[in-house]
Amino acid sequence: MGLRSLAFDISKPVVAVTMANGKQGRGVVKHLANSGLFSVRALVRNPQSQKSIELLGLPNVEIIKADLLHLDSLINAFDGAYAVFGNTTPTKGWRLFRGSMVRDYEMSQGRNLVQSIKKMRDKGSLKHFVFSSICKCKDPLLTNPAPGHFSSKWDIEEYIKYNELQELTTILRPASYFENFYTTLPLISIANQYFPGVVHPDKKWQTIAVEDVGIWANAVLKQPEKFIGQAINLAGEELTGNQMAKTLESLKFSNQKKVTYSKLPRFLIRMIEHDIAIMASWIERSGYGANVTYLKKLAKEIDISMTSFSTWLKQKSLA
Ligand SMILES: NC(=O)c1ccc[n+]([C@@H]2O[C@H](COP(=O)([O-])OP(=O)(O)OC[C@H]3O[C@@H](n4cnc5c(N)ncnc54)[C@H](OP(=O)(O)O)[C@@H]3O)[C@@H](O)[C@H]2O)c1
Repeated sequence: MGLRSLAFDISKPVVAVTMANGKQGRGVVKHLANSGLFSVRALVRNPQSQKSIELLGLPNVEIIKADLLHLDSLINAFDGAYAVFGNTTPTKGWRLFRGSMVRDYEMSQGRNLVQSIKKMRDKGSLKHFVFSSICKCKDPLLTNPAPGHFSSKWDIEEYIKYNELQELTTILRPASYFENFYTTLPLISIANQYFPGVVHPDKKWQTIAVEDVGIWANAVLKQPEKFIGQAINLAGEELTGNQMAKTLESLKFSNQKKVTYSKLPRFLIRMIEHDIAIMASWIERSGYGANVTYLKKLAKEIDISMTSFSTWLKQKSLA
């Protein structure tokens, strides 16, 4: 047993969440914990870190140490859980001309994740597995070459099928986060009158608030009979870079200055984060394939609301 929040109800079904200190993991832990339906077992590599301790401020959260590269740690962390929200990461250490994303790093995690899910399914305790992948493309004939950190996730999806786990699995496939525009890197963050991006200014680009992955995860875990066996491409918006800059400009009430979208030079991206350069070309060529109209209808039907880009800008005090 790990450290627990002060408010912890042992009678609620347990949902284990991998990479609980990541952007997506934190959003998922927050929405599951606040829904009051589940207790959340947050898997972290360092239970003593500041981020881990902060998770204990939410109700019904338990912290447990686990590493996606260590199968036994996952089996231990998933023991007795009713459901698992699982994701994997390509992000290793940064190197010039390679960047930080390593496909094999993510594949090793995917293998362990799926193997541990299979073990828990066979044991009979696990009833629902939500795998967080990445949004598939609009035009399947234009998908190659796809970025390595996309194809790794789609290959893990195939590995889920290969292991015959579809009957307990829901796949969520988020598009790019709004949060990519809000980094600590000077050239890659929204600043006054400056809106940076990696995609051509006139190409539509599907995006989503990372916290909305938590909203969707809670919704599918709440209604397993509706969502098991499904794979859903997720996006909240489909805007061009120019339209995003215009949205920001229109929200600047006191300061009516023009906001300009600036596409970062592709050669620079190729040097700094090679796979992101491949992703940018992929978005321009094929693009994410979420059906935003259908998602808005579905969201209404299951009583959830997605964050619009303008709401997100306001929440982050960027407008
Ligand atoms: N950025 C986007 O627009 C976007 C869109 C859709 C999907 N995605 C995908 O979503 C996934 C999650 O991304 P994110 O942005 O939420 O992550 P993130 O904020 O970059 O955090 C990554 C997390 O992974 C953890 N981690 C790294 N190696 C691990 C290992 N071996 N075992 C267990 N945990 C490990 C880290 O743990 P520590 O805290 O211990 O370092 C960290 O908390 C990634 O696969 C990403 O490709 C990203």
